[in-house]
Amino acid sequence: MTTGLWIILDHVVALLTIATWFAAGVALALRRTGPALAVGVAAVLVTLVRVVTVAILAGRGWWFVQEKVLLGLPMLAAAAAVAVLLGGRHLLAARRGRADGRSAGGVVSVLTAAYAALAGLVVTLLVGYPLTWGTALITVSLVVAGALLTARVVAPPAEHTAAAGVARASEGRGGISRRRFIGWTGGAVVVTAAGAGAGLSFLPAETVSLGGRPGRSSRPAASVAGLRGPGSPAAGGTVRRHVLTARKATVRLASGREIDAWTYNGEVPGPAITATQGDLIEVRLRNADVEDGVTLHWHGYDVPCGEDGAPGVTQMAVRPGEEFVYQFRADQIGTYWYHTHHASHLGVRKGLYGTLVVEPRGGQRAGEHSAAEPVDLTLPVHTFDGTVVIAGSDGRAEHPAPAGTPVRLRLINTDSEPHRIVLAGTPFRIAAVDGRDLNQPGEVSDIGLHLPAGGRYDLVFRMPDTSVALVVDDDRDGGLRLRPPGDAPDEPRLGDTSDLPELDLLRYGTPAAVPFDPRTADRRFTMVLDRGVAMVDGRPAYAQTVNGRGHPAIPDQLVTEGDIVRFTIVNRSLETHPWHLHGHPVLILSRDGTPSTGSPLWMDTFDVRPGETWQVAFRATNPGIWMNHCHNLPHAHQGMMLRLCYDGVTTPFAGTHGGSASHGH
Ligand code: C2O
Ligand code: CU
Repeated sequence: MTTGLWIILDHVVALLTIATWFAAGVALALRRTGPALAVGVAAVLVTLVRVVTVAILAGRGWWFVQEKVLLGLPMLAAAAAVAVLLGGRHLLAARRGRADGRSAGGVVSVLTAAYAALAGLVVTLLVGYPLTWGTALITVSLVVAGALLTARVVAPPAEHTAAAGVARASEGRGGISRRRFIGWTGGAVVVTAAGAGAGLSFLPAETVSLGGRPGRSSRPAASVAGLRGPGSPAAGGTVRRHVLTARKATVRLASGREIDAWTYNGEVPGPAITATQGDLIEVRLRNADVEDGVTLHWHGYDVPCGEDGAPGVTQMAVRPGEEFVYQFRADQIGTYWYHTHHASHLGVRKGLYGTLVVEPRGGQRAGEHSAAEPVDLTLPVHTFDGTVVIAGSDGRAEHPAPAGTPVRLRLINTDSEPHRIVLAGTPFRIAAVDGRDLNQPGEVSDIGLHLPAGGRYDLVFRMPDTSVALVVDDDRDGGLRLRPPGDAPDEPRLGDTSDLPELDLLRYGTPAAVPFDPRTADRRFTMVLDRGVAMVDGRPAYAQTVNGRGHPAIPDQLVTEGDIVRFTIVNRSLETHPWHLHGHPVLILSRDGTPSTGSPLWMDTFDVRPGETWQVAFRATNPGIWMNHCHNLPHAHQGMMLRLCYDGVTTPFAGTHGGSASHGH
């Protein structure tokens, strides 16, 4: 069973502990001895099951259980033990007909077990990892306060029984004053502890994490504003100039349907930018009327930091009437894309994106010798109002391809959710992932591909003399058909594509040497992804968090040029998080502790699915301040975004990253 399923099961068992302890407490209060005993036994059993589910999750990683093991379970276990002692003893006595009415101590202790169970789940859902002293103090205070209040209600001062399961009152007049004393002291302790807990959470938080190495050096600072691209192409290269004007426009899709889009040059996707390795790409970005402001970020392309298009970090957002010129060498070959990075959760969804493809210099790649003119299609997949649009086409697209032609399909996921890709009618290879060629990728067929948000796959094959179908999200009516001229039927034999197993890229292709020893690391950072209550852009929110915090309160990760950096990324939540570091591809080391055994796999965006733990590494060779975030762009906007900072690099820019609060959603 996957860790994600265990997380769900653990939540269900946690709910059951709450329900059974509450039910037992109520039955006891109503003097329903029989039901109380039955439900009480169930509560004890469910609590024991909870211990098992937490133990199993602990085996998957401490991050999944820390707050449960240190706070939730001890609280529940302590309250449950008292409840069994007081409530159980009373019930058994009652069964044997040796006890009158009810035991206040039993009721209070059983209900306290319910409060403890509830508090534990609330801490898991609202706070998560890491547990802080502040959270622990507040939580315990609330549970004890609940117990004291319950005692007041269940055992009014006239009754001579135990209060809060803490002390059995002595007989006679002294009892009342002693219980008062307990009540008042208990109240005072609770208020003090809760206050201390609340105070702790206002302590200034860490702003930089060092990953296990010495802190900042005092070497002279370089500004990101000075980290710009070269002004000329490599020898033999040319300059590729573009002007991209961001503007709102009505765009007509292939079916004739019109959408209200935010565009570059009135087109969706924006103009395709292509180059040959060594060319200089120069793009003048203008903003006509997108009030939020725009930038251009070269997704997966390791440009100098000043060209990276991160507003408030590498430049200011380009407001209407303004412009910004990007310039960088096309040194990396492969399939990439560009998009606005300002208010990107809105802008990209509405159409502010386009493709960037760089071909190797000197023509064909190894293994692509052919007389036939190759078919090379760049296919950004984007969803507009629930309709999947592939390269501007919202219905099924057709493309001719003579038999024997080498075909390359460059799939780009420009959405915030993953897509499932099936290629039917031919065996094929995944030649490149995120623009980087794989080592000796084998031929596959009858398999589904999981394409993360922001990710790219280059699929290559030689055209057969029958049709080939590209099916996205198992929708046979859409997608793309390649057909050899003549009378080939327009559909290959398509079974139920949703039944096909998913290819595991961590076992695909052949191992090869990598440029650094991934077993060593100079700095290690752990990012635990979850939901929780946190500050995002200065406001409290039910945020998408990294280590319990939201942007911009997540500590910067500090690296030094040349460091080998290891990331451990843990997904405690029930949503998929496509992780994306700017400026560097990362080498995938392992998933859930299982090492990658296929081709070296370099990705810039990889899906960390619920319950998964990924280890990745990279060498810090591109100085700057780089965004490091979830590429589900609404998640990034809800806080799941931080910065990786090179020692000594500063930025003169500031301001919000996620966009103004003024725009209407
Ligand atoms: Cu494709 Cu920070 O983004
Ligand atoms: Cu996410």
